[in-house]
Amino acid sequence: MTPSNESPIGIFDSGIGGLTVVKSVMKSLPDENIIYFGDTARVPYGIKSTDTIRQYALQITDFLLKRNVKIILIACNSVAAAARTDIIKRSKKIAVLDVIDAGTKAAVSQSSNHGNIGVIGTLATIGSGSYEQALRELDNRIQVYSRACPMLVPLAEEGWTDNHIAIEILKLYLADFQNKNLDSMILGCTHYPLFKESIARVLGEELTIIDSADAIAAMARDHLQKQDKLNSRSGGSFDCYVSDKPQRFKMLAERFLGQKISRVEIVNLKG
Ligand code: DGL
Repeated sequence: MTPSNESPIGIFDSGIGGLTVVKSVMKSLPDENIIYFGDTARVPYGIKSTDTIRQYALQITDFLLKRNVKIILIACNSVAAAARTDIIKRSKKIAVLDVIDAGTKAAVSQSSNHGNIGVIGTLATIGSGSYEQALRELDNRIQVYSRACPMLVPLAEEGWTDNHIAIEILKLYLADFQNKNLDSMILGCTHYPLFKESIARVLGEELTIIDSADAIAAMARDHLQKQDKLNSRSGGSFDCYVSDKPQRFKMLAERFLGQKISRVEIVNLKG
């Protein structure tokens, strides 16, 4: 069935982190129906191989396509780095947007010409070189400084984003960026927007911090507007699916989004 304007926006991530994207999409497109999938049984992706991430990501893509989504937003940077092209191929008739593309475009537009841009992300994302490649395609004179910060995901899941431990760890991870005269810093992982204020404390308030969640939400709005695919009915729905522990996800998601979620359904993607 061809998706209609009322069909949902499909958003997915390895777990809870993609809710940063859901939150931004709800804010900029409040009337859209959203289906979210969080792969809570297999998170984290950021320490896994490209092949494994690709296999998981395609299973989730098939799940969303069966639900007739009108667009897919890859909310997970590690997935965007490992499987973007494969997901686009699989999705054929619908658009696929991803956080790396959105974040790099936002960074270049908000940095000075041929500026210095910092990127932090998971081992999978930084190891893939996807951010460097995407930034250089936009401006080949940009200087990119990147660093994997693997401790930040477990810290965020623990809720430790601004205590003294988080600040000390950020100081260690971000030390090399201090003298690089950065124009902007891309938060290349779904969990990192939760550290936004702490990162500003460590690197200085004047640094532009690029939150890919806001960037991809703006991109999705522009795309749907241009294609005349916005939902004309008011009041969007939110359906949530996970691969494990729906109760824990529901509790965290409600806290995170600041609203009640009617239910979170468990799905076994392996069938
Ligand atoms: N969602 C992942 C990302 O943006 C972070 C969590 C994970 O490692 O699965 O890269």
